[in-house]
Amino acid sequence: MVAMPETILIGGDLRVNRLGYGAMRLAGADIWGDPSDRDAARRVLERAVELGVNFIDTADAYGPETNELLVADALHPYPPGLVIATKGGIVRPSRGRWDSDGRPEHLRAACEASLRRLRVECIDLYQLHTIDPAVPLEDSLGEIARLRQAGKIRHVGVSNFDADELARARRIVEVVSVQNRYNVSDRSSDPVLAVCERDGLAFIPWSPLTQSPRDADAGPRGKLEDWATARGVSFAQAAIAWLLTRSPAMLPIPGTSRVGHLEENAAADALRLTAADMRAIG
Ligand SMILES: NC(=O)c1ccc[n+]([C@@H]2O[C@H](COP(=O)([O-])OP(=O)(O)OC[C@H]3O[C@@H](n4cnc5c(N)ncnc54)[C@H](OP(=O)(O)O)[C@@H]3O)[C@@H](O)[C@H]2O)c1
Repeated sequence: MVAMPETILIGGDLRVNRLGYGAMRLAGADIWGDPSDRDAARRVLERAVELGVNFIDTADAYGPETNELLVADALHPYPPGLVIATKGGIVRPSRGRWDSDGRPEHLRAACEASLRRLRVECIDLYQLHTIDPAVPLEDSLGEIARLRQAGKIRHVGVSNFDADELARARRIVEVVSVQNRYNVSDRSSDPVLAVCERDGLAFIPWSPLTQSPRDADAGPRGKLEDWATARGVSFAQAAIAWLLTRSPAMLPIPGTSRVGHLEENAAADALRLTAADMRAIG
């Protein structure tokens, strides 16, 4: 059992370990359909909980639908304290498409469907997956606020919002978390992170492991690689440790489809960089 002592409080009442798990990779290629080995995928989720993970991120768009169904299949009835966060606001008309749909009627139906698939009466953290440019934000988040008033959602999060959009969102509904792309190479969300730190929102970085080719050549990544090599840890572990050190608001959700990688990533919870390391990496 890996010790996971550091926690974060979401929305004033959900205390979770600061290293979560993103379930998106437990789907078929292109995040479409079921994973090729469903039993192995279930095992990853079970092992995550065994390792002390109690914050799991999914979305109705992953699969679509199959990811939420898999989470419920593997983990329901959920152990006390396990927080399942999901998202609505993106639809998948075909394998390659991720279309925004922030219409209130869609979000209401999407939330009801997520409740059924996850087999819960209330979703602990429901995140608007993205802004739909065709729908006023007030309409999308206004509907999510009504779903919360109706008891179907405990807390509201947003995803892929810049600082101005976050400020607008918070005038419509209480927002407790932001899920944006962020890692050692991509810090474009630093202004949003600063707001989260200041106001006690959780910042949930996606793509935490810097796996995408768009992060590959960025300078700080190389310095973090050197740090990892010098300490005999993997780059994935270093990337997670860098995020955990970067801010107490940070709640990384590294994704994997393999138990081996999951265990390796969980062990990074015990790693931190010194202030001098952080300055040297830049
Ligand atoms: N809000 C959004 O718009 C949005 C967008 C994307 C993702 N997300 C969320 O963020 C989570 C994480 O994002 P992500 O999956 O894109 O990025 P990520 O966690 O940075 O990277 C996942 C990739 O890294 C590999 N990996 C994991 N652990 C590894 C290790 N120890 N060594 C080597 N490779 C390793 C995985 O492959 P293996 O399966 O082979 O381990 C997978 O291909 C997702 O699960 C999802 O919940 C949100």
